[in-house]
Amino acid sequence: MIITEKINIQRTKHSRLSEVDFNNLTFGSIISDHMVVSDYNNGEWGASSIMPFGNISISPTMLALHYGQVVFEGMKAFKMKDGSISIFRIEKHYERFCKSMERMCIPAMSYEQFDEALKALIELDSAWVPGSEGASLYIRPFVFASEERFGVKVADEYKFIIFTGPVGPYYANPLKVKVEGKYRRAAHGGTGSAKCAGNYGGAFYPLQLARKEGFDQVLWTDATDDLYIEESGTMNVFFIIDNVIITPPLSDSILDGVTRDSFITLAKGMGYKVEERKIGANELVHSFQKNIFQEAFGTGTAAVVAPIQTINIAGKDYNLPKVSDNSVSMKIKQQLLNIRIGTAPDKNNWNTIIKL
Ligand SMILES: Cc1ncc(COP(=O)(O)O)c(C=O)c1O
Repeated sequence: MIITEKINIQRTKHSRLSEVDFNNLTFGSIISDHMVVSDYNNGEWGASSIMPFGNISISPTMLALHYGQVVFEGMKAFKMKDGSISIFRIEKHYERFCKSMERMCIPAMSYEQFDEALKALIELDSAWVPGSEGASLYIRPFVFASEERFGVKVADEYKFIIFTGPVGPYYANPLKVKVEGKYRRAAHGGTGSAKCAGNYGGAFYPLQLARKEGFDQVLWTDATDDLYIEESGTMNVFFIIDNVIITPPLSDSILDGVTRDSFITLAKGMGYKVEERKIGANELVHSFQKNIFQEAFGTGTAAVVAPIQTINIAGKDYNLPKVSDNSVSMKIKQQLLNIRIGTAPDKNNWNTIIKL
């Protein structure tokens, strides 16, 4: 039993659980019954409370709305084969949350507070964790400057919230992506490696243009040389060329994806050769021409492992072989899923298990 006396819990009187069609889960529209809330005032984080999910009241002068001090995380919990719930890699998500907060001048919250509130919320809303394959409970911790005033400044007050929602697959089909030729997502020295809200808002315009051209996503290139692939939308990106799994190295312009890290660990453990190195669009073209390009895919909490079917480089479409259960990316994805649901050993202690 994780629910603790340290957290004040106000249970909903009107659960919305019976309204949810768990056989038709879309991504991002269904929210579970409760949320965690904590406020930062007078130099410290106050105790967490759990309350029914609902609207919050904010002032038009709230600093986050004007100057963008907003940081978030995206995590998942899974229903295991024995009926328990596993939460995936809490510590790694917490570390990234702290790094993002530091970059955005937001005061850190202790691991104990984050971990305890998260586990209590998942336990309370455990009935919302879907059990069907490919479905999971998406968890959204976030923090924003809640201070009310309009001068440009680092805020002195913040609000931390965690809400969750059951989700199905993020992408239904293999993706068509284009190497973005004009716009850049992140520059060295900027905020690209922080999971801060502005990075996403800034990426919408080029994404919208790409969607109009029929693409699902863009592959961002670096802002210094305009040559090297960095990542894609809400995913890190991988290529398999001549039997080597290649992914761009982490930098201050790439998000340190938890799925990326997990995928690399599993791939190495399964005997695949993995290289974290710079890879340019030119190298992709050459490997297509030499017929040694095997797979391309994105990794992310939402999408898990999303195969790429077509890459457009400088206006030309390059088509990849169809993915099958035998594709390397799909075998590693299955291994990741098996660990999460408890049908493969969790050798790296990634799961936090809540026994019900
Ligand atoms: C910009 C960006 N890159 C990569 C990722 C993948 O990270 P993760 O695997 O931790 O979800 C995400 C999603 O969080 C993202 O928003």
